[in-house]
Amino acid sequence: MNVSEAVDSRMSCRAFLSTPVPGEVVRNILQAAKRAPSGGNLQPWHVYVLAGAPLDELLSVVHSKFPTNPRGEGTEYDVYPPRLTEPYRTRRFKCGEDLYATINIARDNKTARWQQFAKNFSLFGAPVALFFAIDRQMGMGQWVDLGMFMQNIMLLAREQGLHTCPQESWAVWHKTIEANLQLPSNLMLFCGMALGYRDEAAPINRLRTDRAELDEFAMFRGL
Ligand SMILES: Cc1cc2nc3c(=O)[nH]c(=O)nc-3n(C[C@H](O)[C@H](O)[C@H](O)COP(=O)(O)O)c2cc1C
Repeated sequence: MNVSEAVDSRMSCRAFLSTPVPGEVVRNILQAAKRAPSGGNLQPWHVYVLAGAPLDELLSVVHSKFPTNPRGEGTEYDVYPPRLTEPYRTRRFKCGEDLYATINIARDNKTARWQQFAKNFSLFGAPVALFFAIDRQMGMGQWVDLGMFMQNIMLLAREQGLHTCPQESWAVWHKTIEANLQLPSNLMLFCGMALGYRDEAAPINRLRTDRAELDEFAMFRGL
């Protein structure tokens, strides 16, 4: 698989097979992903990898809190700006509409939408979870570095026949996760990522999200 194929075939997978991923494969992906660039070579990423019993335990703690706290614990950062303007607002809306359309959930069916969203907290069935954290002293530049590290992981996963779903939704359970993973107090959770083998039969995985035309986001001068 070449880089273009990895970039093009990466998608946010929302239904995984339970097939385990060998630990060595995950280690190799992370080992290769660490070549990501970072300003000043700070390498500001921290990643916690969970599978098997430790993952089951974390998921069951989160699930046990759903009945009393269905919306979670609040986030430490704004996952989206509080008042998204255009064109971002429409893009976000359409992304949700297109996603729910793949599984025939109507706009007014709030319960079904919520149930689908809640599958985030079962990693959409993936056998491996990655949780990404960053030192609280870091600023925007280093958050970008963390993003590049995550993208490397997502592309390298494709090379191994694996798929991923980055999951900021985990930010609403940051206290539970920080406690469960015993994160040092200087680290804050950014997001999670599901990793595993895609369920090829699942309709939700047929979503191919839109992208704006090149001229909408790229300005060329002298080229
Ligand atoms: C940082 C980040 C966090 C995301 N969080 C979630 C999430 O919590 N749940 C989810 O289903 N998708 C999540 N996504 C997936 C986006 O919705 C997805 O990347 C976008 O719609 C484009 O689709 P694609 O990844 O399939 O190309 C996240 C993506 C990124 C980059």
